[in-house]
Amino acid sequence: MAYSITTTFNGEIRTFGAEIETTALEVIRQQAGFTGTKLVCGSGACGACTILVDGEARCSCIMPALHMEGKRIDTIESHATQGDAHPVQKAFLAHDALQCGFCTPGFINEGIAFYNDWQAKHKGQRPERDEIAAAMAGHYCRCGAYQGIFQAMMDACEGKFDGPEIPEFLRNDGRQKVTGFAQYTADIQLPGQLVGVILRSTIPHGKILRIDSLAAEKMDGVKAVLRLKQDEITRYEGEPLVALAATTEAIAYAALQAIVVEYEPRPFVLEIRESMKPDAVPLFSGDKKEIAAASEAPPFPGSWEGNVRKTLLSLSSSDKGKAQRLTEKSDPKLATHFAATFQTPTQFHTTFEPHCAVADWKADGKLTVYASTQGVHALGKAIAERYELKEDDVQVFAEYVGGGFGSKLTMYTAIKTAIELSRAAKWPVAVIYDRAEEFSETGFRPSAEIEVVLTAEEDGSNAAYTMTAYGNSGFAIGSNVADISGLGYTGIAKSLLDYDVLTNFQPGAAFRGPGGPAACFALEQSIDHMAHQMKMDPIALRRKWEKHEGYLQLFDWVEKLSIWNRRKPLGSQGGRCRTGVGVSFGGWMHIYMPPAEVEIEATPAGITIRNAVQDMGQGARSVLSKAVADVFGIAANAVNVEIGKNNLPIGPTSGGSRTTATIYPAAFEAAEKLRDTILKQVSKSESLVDAKAGLTGIVHAAGTMSWFDAFSKIDFIREKATRGHNDGFNPMGMLPLPEGMELGQNRSSGVYVIAVEVDTWLGKTRVTEVNGAMRVGKVHVRPLAESQCQGGVIQGIGHVLYEDRAVCSKTGKLLSRGLEDYRLPGMGDIPPISIDFIEEGFEMVKQKGIGLAELCTTPVAGAVANAIFNATGYRPLVAPITPERLLAGLKTVQGGEGN
Ligand code: FES
Repeated sequence: MAYSITTTFNGEIRTFGAEIETTALEVIRQQAGFTGTKLVCGSGACGACTILVDGEARCSCIMPALHMEGKRIDTIESHATQGDAHPVQKAFLAHDALQCGFCTPGFINEGIAFYNDWQAKHKGQRPERDEIAAAMAGHYCRCGAYQGIFQAMMDACEGKFDGPEIPEFLRNDGRQKVTGFAQYTADIQLPGQLVGVILRSTIPHGKILRIDSLAAEKMDGVKAVLRLKQDEITRYEGEPLVALAATTEAIAYAALQAIVVEYEPRPFVLEIRESMKPDAVPLFSGDKKEIAAASEAPPFPGSWEGNVRKTLLSLSSSDKGKAQRLTEKSDPKLATHFAATFQTPTQFHTTFEPHCAVADWKADGKLTVYASTQGVHALGKAIAERYELKEDDVQVFAEYVGGGFGSKLTMYTAIKTAIELSRAAKWPVAVIYDRAEEFSETGFRPSAEIEVVLTAEEDGSNAAYTMTAYGNSGFAIGSNVADISGLGYTGIAKSLLDYDVLTNFQPGAAFRGPGGPAACFALEQSIDHMAHQMKMDPIALRRKWEKHEGYLQLFDWVEKLSIWNRRKPLGSQGGRCRTGVGVSFGGWMHIYMPPAEVEIEATPAGITIRNAVQDMGQGARSVLSKAVADVFGIAANAVNVEIGKNNLPIGPTSGGSRTTATIYPAAFEAAEKLRDTILKQVSKSESLVDAKAGLTGIVHAAGTMSWFDAFSKIDFIREKATRGHNDGFNPMGMLPLPEGMELGQNRSSGVYVIAVEVDTWLGKTRVTEVNGAMRVGKVHVRPLAESQCQGGVIQGIGHVLYEDRAVCSKTGKLLSRGLEDYRLPGMGDIPPISIDFIEEGFEMVKQKGIGLAELCTTPVAGAVANAIFNATGYRPLVAPITPERLLAGLKTVQGGEGN
């Protein structure tokens, strides 16, 4: 190291070495060993790496380490000492202002700087929402915990957490997350750990003529070089070609640069309509079974023609022939006919913890893998199978996961690469993607073109629609937009057809409610528009089509909502800024995993509960501990929870909204068994008369023995329970689901009523209020369910207003390569979000509740688009509804451009 820096680091004088190009973040994480400061964007755009420098908030990922000299540096770990915590940390805990926790240290450091400033200038006062949004403008939270952050900052600044006491909080792992001590895969550092990096294709389509890695292999410090690409055609820019492991990052990247790749470029195709042309460049001539699936479930059977695959099965079509007949003979001139083609964008998952893995393949054949995964149990099995190892010899850890949203469901490239490099190098290897790699290889929500034809009788009855959707999943299949649209409106005829269209992009991946947001954007706008043409109330029209009690209850809910009833009639506003209110409904499936098993034990130290599930922000620990709390009446955060290891009792992959629906019932039943066994043992050993279990403890003739007193009377009791099937379950038989998953009875349904303000001069849409109702049965942990919904709304707002992939049409190269090039919703974009739960409809389900993470994002896009129509008269067919599109659209509407 060329330079030495002396700094007051977390209260101690410390000296570090640095080169000119070393960042403060590198010093903090690699030399000081404090990993609470996170690397997300690497460009100062997201704020996750924020530290305090002489009390000022600074992004450490772009701060030269040399600027630390003589300064006081405080990282997140400095604020909570000896059980105490800063008022801002306590406020984050109390308001559950976090999910995965990866952005949290940065928010808290920024929050502390704001709090200190506020205390100096406005002590005792409460900041406004806009003041907090302005202070936090340099921070993003992809999980969407903004509402809790607003509340936490208001209360903290007002002084509500200045006292010494730790507030009550529900999130079982909240303390580790707000203090920076939660350890994610990207934080793992094993002795001798090598740096694994990947050389990627630089062209969108072409033949690989030569890969020469000899020079790299000979470099000092390079320990293994592997060819990742086995065939000779590259089909997307960013496709992994070669991986290597080296002793340092500098050597690893120098070695990558020494690898020579020669290509013979081929024409590429990026757009759906281009790829569908009969003379389009054929993208694949081999066995089509090799093409990846971008969906969570196995794709339905399909037939190929060129680059286009027609899906041959639709589960949601009904009266298909009738739907086709009615729509074909429907007269386009009539108000009872609506036809349009909609377009929805690519949306990147943008998990804040990158895709990453650390693998340690020992000489004795035992393999340890730390992975940022949504399925620790399934991953352990998949690794054992792929590498022909005994399951017991594979250990997978995912103690904390910094977001997934569907992109970390499989054994993805970073995991396989870390394992194979470790096997070759005989040392532990970490493969951690940078942000550009995140955008180029880890999947996305496929874009889609959706043709809808909708028709009905004059009174709105006897309706039918056809939907034909073309999905652009890149070099992958599995589009389901049309089919998923059919989850609602059970009383009408539907003909639903999905096509996959191959293009020269990376394979897409399941993303929260796959197909749902695009389906709602198209269908719910079509319904809204036809209601407008027919001069009918949009809810009254929908009532004619729906028999399912879930939607009927939601209709009632909307009709009582003040903001819905106060909406202004279309065309009643002039001037620059106009307000609108839109509604959209959506449905989702009820999925769970019967073989999942929860183990629980009691000792004098308390209760420990275990399952091989993982927490990616949804609060799996809190769900397990809440089940125990619901049986024993003890505080949920007093329960010790072990998750995130594959060798714990079988747990669900977190996808398809199945986690809570799986683990809560199993945990509840296990806790009940434990309670009954303790009751029996302690009643006998303590000679308690008329003893019964209660929420305060064991109630007996002479009084009540608290549960903790009861635990002190036993040595050790362990019980287990499996999730099992719902009562009266009737398997569908036609849909083979992986990992023992089951499609349960009934479906969830949800609605949003969303208000917007449209600036007709600038073309900007601001969402000003969100009201939602979710019908998912019993809600087991309400604050977590609310937080999930808020996150779903925020991701939905991103999808419909801001997010899209930018690509150079001339070179086929991706232009969205960092968070400065990809617009995520920030705090200033988010209005108050209010969610109601209708806790009915799932009495047949164990513990009466199902999942909601996917449902809660699907109807957002339709409601925002309908609100824009209500405000302006412009029907937005293309999302994201950017200012450019909106301004162009307003020009087509009479009186659309404000004055
Ligand atoms: Fe903010 Fe996950 S909690 S990114």
